[in-house]
Amino acid sequence: MADSSIPKFHEKNKEERIKKVASFSGLSKEDIKILKNEGGISFNDANNMVENAIGTVSFPLGIATNFRINGKDYLIPMVIEESSVIAAASKAAKIAKKQGGFTMKADDSYSIGQIQVVDVKVKSAMSSVMSSKKEIIKLANSKSKTLSKIGKGAKQVTCKKINSDSGPMLIVELLIDVGDAMGANVTNTMCEGVAPLIEKLTGGQVILKILSNYSTKRLVRGTAIFDKEELGGQEIVDKIMLAYQFAANDPYRAVTHNKGIMNGVIAVANATGQDTRAIEAAAHAYASKTGKYSSLTEWKKGKDGNLIGKIELPMSVGIVGGIVNVHPMIKVCAKILKVKSAKELACIIGAVGLAQNLSALRALASEGIQKGHMRLHARNIAASAGVTLDKMNKVTRQMIQEGNVSVHRAKEILKEL
Ligand code: MEV
Repeated sequence: MADSSIPKFHEKNKEERIKKVASFSGLSKEDIKILKNEGGISFNDANNMVENAIGTVSFPLGIATNFRINGKDYLIPMVIEESSVIAAASKAAKIAKKQGGFTMKADDSYSIGQIQVVDVKVKSAMSSVMSSKKEIIKLANSKSKTLSKIGKGAKQVTCKKINSDSGPMLIVELLIDVGDAMGANVTNTMCEGVAPLIEKLTGGQVILKILSNYSTKRLVRGTAIFDKEELGGQEIVDKIMLAYQFAANDPYRAVTHNKGIMNGVIAVANATGQDTRAIEAAAHAYASKTGKYSSLTEWKKGKDGNLIGKIELPMSVGIVGGIVNVHPMIKVCAKILKVKSAKELACIIGAVGLAQNLSALRALASEGIQKGHMRLHARNIAASAGVTLDKMNKVTRQMIQEGNVSVHRAKEILKEL
């Protein structure tokens, strides 16, 4: 099995890193060319995607190393503008790998579509809908030959009543197995497709027919054990537990704690072309599922003193459709991951979220996060002052020692060197 631990990966230059990634993932010459040329989407593609296009914007793409998930090693592409995140994920993955890595499980890709019916006698409307379930499912599935062909598609119809200031409403929900797609389009198409039948059955008026982004039937969950010695000893483990308790019991802290998780989640989601707004919206709603906003992770100390982390959150992602089919770099990122299904991708993203949380808690419970941030910040500053890789360490070290991280000082040190 290819090993995701690549010694001194961070010290290599772009060319060497690409070479390592290419050999790990078996990238083609064409893929390597795309990586080397930083191949974004063309203006034409951009223009077809959004209105009033005037260009495109690019972001840093880095690789998190050391990940072992369900017994398989991964190099994980992450797109993010914040420093320290990729290093933090790699570090946590290295610690987890000592105890076997991450064990993750994703639900089948069930999407929920909602059809809002008003001006109805809810009770009798409900029973008409429920007794025509088969017909509704058949009609929904006629809207997607692709899903039907592979045995996926609409599987269930449920009804619920909600009371509102505008009176009672019937909400009909379709549960749709969208396979390897994120599934927003097909869900909306099916909801719109069955709306006339729902109106006929209920005698009511359908208003909204739309996917719910609260994808609670599409969760990813998992766990990893973090070796106490690797974490820095029992005292750090105890402090991490206290940090976790803070998040578990205070929404103000929990939001920041979960933001750290989303640093990892969204960076992989960006690299693989996901609808990140959908992932964020669902994650934060899920964090409030008990009625009180809390942590998306759970931490425990094992009998041997090791730290056991758990994560659970909705993960509505796809490996086909949308920008995934169009963006050259995103296509290469999928090849780097070698993902075969949306569920596998959900597992990877969940694992990175857990890793990110561990690293943030560990840094916060020990030296704080500014030291690490400062190192990378100093590198950014030095780079913009024209410092080349061979002199980078010297210049950044000196700026940090002097407590003067600025382009001006970087230029001065460069001259002195
Ligand atoms: C910074 O982007 C993320 C953290 O604030 C997360 C946390 O506090 O747990 C470090």
